Amino acid sequence: MQQPQFAATFDADRSEQFGNRLVDLLNQMGLALMLGIGHETGLLDVLARLPPTSSAGIAQAAGLHERYVREWLACLVSAAVVEYAPASQTFALPVEHAVWLAHSQPDFTPGGAFPGAAILAEAFACLMEVQPQVMACFRRGGGVPYSAYSRFHALMAQERNALFDRILLPSVLPLVPGWGKTLERGAQVADFGCGRGRVLHLLAQAYPHSHFTGYDISPPEIAQAQTEAEQMGLVNTRFRLADVAGLDVAGVYDYALAFDAIHDLAQPEQALRAIARSLKPGGSLLMQEFAASSRLEENLDHPLAAWLYAQSVLYCLTVSLSQGGAGLGCMWGKERALAMLAQAGFGAVEVKRTTADPYSDYFLARLSTEA
Ligand SMILES: C[S@@+](CC[C@H](N)C(=O)[O-])C[C@H]1O[C@@H](n2cnc3c(N)ncnc32)[C@H](O)[C@@H]1O
Repeated sequence: MQQPQFAATFDADRSEQFGNRLVDLLNQMGLALMLGIGHETGLLDVLARLPPTSSAGIAQAAGLHERYVREWLACLVSAAVVEYAPASQTFALPVEHAVWLAHSQPDFTPGGAFPGAAILAEAFACLMEVQPQVMACFRRGGGVPYSAYSRFHALMAQERNALFDRILLPSVLPLVPGWGKTLERGAQVADFGCGRGRVLHLLAQAYPHSHFTGYDISPPEIAQAQTEAEQMGLVNTRFRLADVAGLDVAGVYDYALAFDAIHDLAQPEQALRAIARSLKPGGSLLMQEFAASSRLEENLDHPLAAWLYAQSVLYCLTVSLSQGGAGLGCMWGKERALAMLAQAGFGAVEVKRTTADPYSDYFLARLSTEA
């Protein structure tokens, strides 16, 4: 490599290490795209249930074209995800890998805290469809609207559903002492920015004496939430199309939820005030956000920081800015969240964590009883 002008201080080892990281990056990018395809086509699930099998056998079991499957397998073998036996020309997905990657296997218990990696890889690849529009926003400002994202929402819902199915009742609900008992007796609960409604579906099924209302600004999300509630035969849920910030509901709910939503909103301060207003005196909000600091320098050890900041650029930040919004970004962090909750009138806030969802902070924010 040609030495730059400041050669006296140029650390060749450091530069080479960085170059090696970039080589690794290219390999990981290739793997990420192929994992996404493996999830979407069902290839990962097929591999998980097959013994060592030829590419033709895998392709047949998946109902796919062998030539594509063979090239895909070659990528996964090169990346040490799939094992290859040259003598028999067979491929196998080790069970230790399958537990992280094979989402549709009912008999597979996810092996770790982050089993949605293949779905997320696919979702992330989908974000590239808006990359030209986001780049234009770097130049002219503004943002990319929700309507520009075609497959991203469905994929994120898949990943979130898999997560909530696994952790909501056994690990998240116990973070809020007393809620379970009140829900058993009968309570009014609202989910703000509910998306496709999985959280409320699960709660409504578990607590038939309580009533659950979901609010979201997106018509397709509300329609899907309603359809799934009907399919599940739920009679204690309702889903409403609304901008949380403009909601005029007062003193109705015992509990409010806002999962992975507040940072996306155009007007998060107004939304938190509207949520506070919607609660009965003494009511509380459980808000889930990515566990992060509001200070960049404190996030440098976060294992997913670069990925989350990138997701923020390509989605969270830009959807908010497209509405002239605050543009908090998904790494807005605990300090800012606590300040905003206090401003909205939540007197006491505790930050809760669960090992079942190690990348999240759960803010339990209570209204004072005089509110
Ligand atoms: C990242 S999704 C989270 C969905 C769900 N709560 C979850 O945890 O999977 C954020 C949701 O907030 C909704 N949203 C964004 N702005 C909103 C607003 N002003 N009022 C209501 N919902 C909004 C979006 O449509 C989207 O469904």
